[in-house]
Amino acid sequence: MLMTDVIVKKREGEKLSAEEIKFVVDGYTRGEIPDYQMSALMMAILLRGMDREETLQLTMAMRDSGETLDLSAIKGVKADKHSTGGVGDKTSLILCPMVAAQGVKIAKMSGRGLGHTGGTIDKLESFPGFNTGISEEKFIENVNKFGIAIAGQTADLDPADKKMYALRDVTGTVPSIPLIVSSIMSKKLAAGADVIVLDVKSGSGSFMKTAEDAHELAENLTAVGKLAGKKTVAVITDMDEPLGNAIGNALEVKEAIEVLRGEKKGELLELCLTLGSCILTEAGIAADDAAARKMLEKGIEDGSALEKLAELVEGQEGDRRAVFDTSLLPQAPVQFEAVCDRTGYVKHICADEVGLVSMHLGGGRATKESVIDLSVGIILKKKVGDKVEAGESLGTIHAQSIEAAKKAAEMLNACYTVVPDPVEKPAFIKGIVR
Ligand code: URA
Repeated sequence: MLMTDVIVKKREGEKLSAEEIKFVVDGYTRGEIPDYQMSALMMAILLRGMDREETLQLTMAMRDSGETLDLSAIKGVKADKHSTGGVGDKTSLILCPMVAAQGVKIAKMSGRGLGHTGGTIDKLESFPGFNTGISEEKFIENVNKFGIAIAGQTADLDPADKKMYALRDVTGTVPSIPLIVSSIMSKKLAAGADVIVLDVKSGSGSFMKTAEDAHELAENLTAVGKLAGKKTVAVITDMDEPLGNAIGNALEVKEAIEVLRGEKKGELLELCLTLGSCILTEAGIAADDAAARKMLEKGIEDGSALEKLAELVEGQEGDRRAVFDTSLLPQAPVQFEAVCDRTGYVKHICADEVGLVSMHLGGGRATKESVIDLSVGIILKKKVGDKVEAGESLGTIHAQSIEAAKKAAEMLNACYTVVPDPVEKPAFIKGIVR
């Protein structure tokens, strides 16, 4: 088989066979197919598309490109969650302990953040001593003992995706539904869970800029999950502004703890209750979403969800006291109010740009090797729909120096669109695809 023939076939809009897809994925993972040929094929896929069968075959070939996790030693239903990514997204830190407290087993492999969106693994490292690099044996032992473990994705899991994603990033081939679906689902399938819940972001701060595109992605993700034999649900949620109020690693951990303590309501809690209900019903632990919601709310009220977070931290060598005393988390020396220079109503907050403010403060990674500052970030005080007066604070900047904070405050002002007339906040949950 020749790679050139496969490229030409897709360029002409023809369907690729399972053999051709496997040839490409295996050859590229082994380094036998060069980047330039793979780039050409991915651009052809982006322009010509792939049908569901091709997308499934691509997903399976990527899943099988490396090791897959064998979770058979874990008793009970195993669930996993994935978000298509967004600024201020600390959902896993809340959702995973919430559902684990109800008896679902969470065996989660997570990534580090690259660019301005932080990864769950980075956020967890805000707990002093937390080890995200535990061995596979310890990972399985912890899930059996505590019902929850979250570890960094190993290099052996889905190596095809690692190479393909890095190439897509620099060849303009990220926003292709078959490529996104195969990238996400191959990793989830390799990680071995029975139930997969997907948070598909829609809006200016996400890959899918319109609700229609997000819906199409959600449909494709769930269809491929089901064809691969997994219970898969996708929830489409708004990413037209950052999620919640905190952006920055330790600040997001603190916000997650506030939600688990029952002190913070709003969209973040709503999102975790919605995703959590899907997991509990698909896992057969609750009869329906309403019953699941009650169980999850009770877990917050009686403190069992918070205790589960403490067990996760302790089980991975972290300081569990920080769950109950957040002053033990990394703290930035400077706090500075970003004062608004206009009066009106907040119409939009550009999530990507807010992510760049956090990066400017040192909270994001410019390259894979960058060391990030866990303490810095922003606490937004105004969100879409809020009224703001000139001179009021839009948010508190947590920085290492006053100079960095002042620049960040200026940048944050530019992220806000403030209009004279009242603004209605759009619905946060835009749909559920089961
Ligand atoms: N997240 C992934 O893991 N892969 C993509 O292609 C897009 C989002």
